[in-house]
Amino acid sequence: MPVSCVQIRELPQHIDEEVVIRGWMYNKRSSGKIHFLQLRDGSGFVQAVMVKNDVAEDDFENAKNLWFEACLEVTGKVRADQRAPSGVELSVTALKVLHNPTEEYPIGKKEHGIDFLLDLRHLWLRSQRQHAIMKIREQVIWTTREYLRNNGFLLVDSPIITGSIGEGASGLFDLDYFDMGKAYLAQTGQLYAEAAAAAYGKVYTFGPTFRAEKSKTRRHLTEFWMVEPEVAFYDHEDNMHLQENLVSAIVEQVLLHCGKELALLERDVEPLKKVVPPFYRITYDEAVKKLHSLGSDIQYGEDFGNDDETILTQQYDKPVFVECYPKKVKAFYMKEHPTNPDLVLCDDLLAPEGYGEIIGGSQREDDMERLVARIREQGLPEESYTWYLDLRRYGTFIHSGFGMGIERVVAWICGLQHIREAIPWPRTIYRLNP
Ligand code: 4AD
Ligand code: MG
Repeated sequence: MPVSCVQIRELPQHIDEEVVIRGWMYNKRSSGKIHFLQLRDGSGFVQAVMVKNDVAEDDFENAKNLWFEACLEVTGKVRADQRAPSGVELSVTALKVLHNPTEEYPIGKKEHGIDFLLDLRHLWLRSQRQHAIMKIREQVIWTTREYLRNNGFLLVDSPIITGSIGEGASGLFDLDYFDMGKAYLAQTGQLYAEAAAAAYGKVYTFGPTFRAEKSKTRRHLTEFWMVEPEVAFYDHEDNMHLQENLVSAIVEQVLLHCGKELALLERDVEPLKKVVPPFYRITYDEAVKKLHSLGSDIQYGEDFGNDDETILTQQYDKPVFVECYPKKVKAFYMKEHPTNPDLVLCDDLLAPEGYGEIIGGSQREDDMERLVARIREQGLPEESYTWYLDLRRYGTFIHSGFGMGIERVVAWICGLQHIREAIPWPRTIYRLNP
């Protein structure tokens, strides 16, 4: 009697046993008396070999007519096979067709355009390449949570529907909230993380965040996932240490656990092996000078454009912090620089190889008056920050934190051309479906 259904990844533990697997046929070759069925079940990939004389006649006939992505239950004997990538092969003894499509699977073996594939994202996710990216994404998230937990951080979830603007008035998705006027989809969980830091010390939020910016770059989504640690009594310097240690831990664990996936993506891992602390550091002033020497026409006082980030990070073999931007281009909550009131105590962490910003962080303004002045300067609705200002009213404290965009990190580690492959269901200004 065959054992009950097993996963493909478990097959090496069942050599010479008869097993049943359930999955989908993603490829097939046939030669008169033999079918080679390529199967996947989400846990792995295996070749099932069906020899005419070893199976019932009907089963062999049925296999002849299978379309790609047919759903199958295959019974067979597990054989060790050194040549197979999984180390095993299945010698089929019986085939049950659970569903055979009646038309050709739209994603073929040929090259397809990106829009075609994105329209079929619900099917495209089945491909080996997308599977590898999703595995690496999961590892990035897992390590992030594990690292923070092991270092004493408490997860405190923040709301997605909010009444106060987190980053700035531009780029907000708003909605009518019953009789209470406008509500916004969270651009960040930070303000709530700050309240939680005053309650519990070391905290983080992790969830989807939303930006309605009309950015059409390879780095921007309108919905992305952000992890936002916030720590009481950390200053700007402590904040950067945490960032470089977290990012290094993530890369280390991906290298350790996702070697197969990185190889499938043809990712050169040598640059990733260099990602260990300390990272490089330059100030905004130095970055502007460097950009000028590299041919950029950036004006002092402007935020970096995508091209600036690309050429800047091509100069470095591991991530680089750019510190202390002009106050004018940064959010209202950043702490004023102690010796230059035109600057703020912030950092952007840029990934190498042209990838650019993966983290934005800062020490927070803990001085009530300066914070109120900044809210007014930026024309933000003061009344919706009453609760946030309470954090300065009742035991104000030095604190810092940052936001790391999961998809930016995944795109960099995987070596992707575009961020849209780093999330299962990308949302951009052009894409709402599937
Ligand atoms: O630099 P940002 O806007 O910072 C904040 O939101 C802060 N409140 C974070 C904090 O201090 N708690 O965004 C942080 C990161 C960026 O570095 C980037 O990785 C990612 O979020 N990000 C985006 N990722 C994809 N698409 C977009 N449109 C993104 N905007 C920001
Ligand atoms: Mg930023």
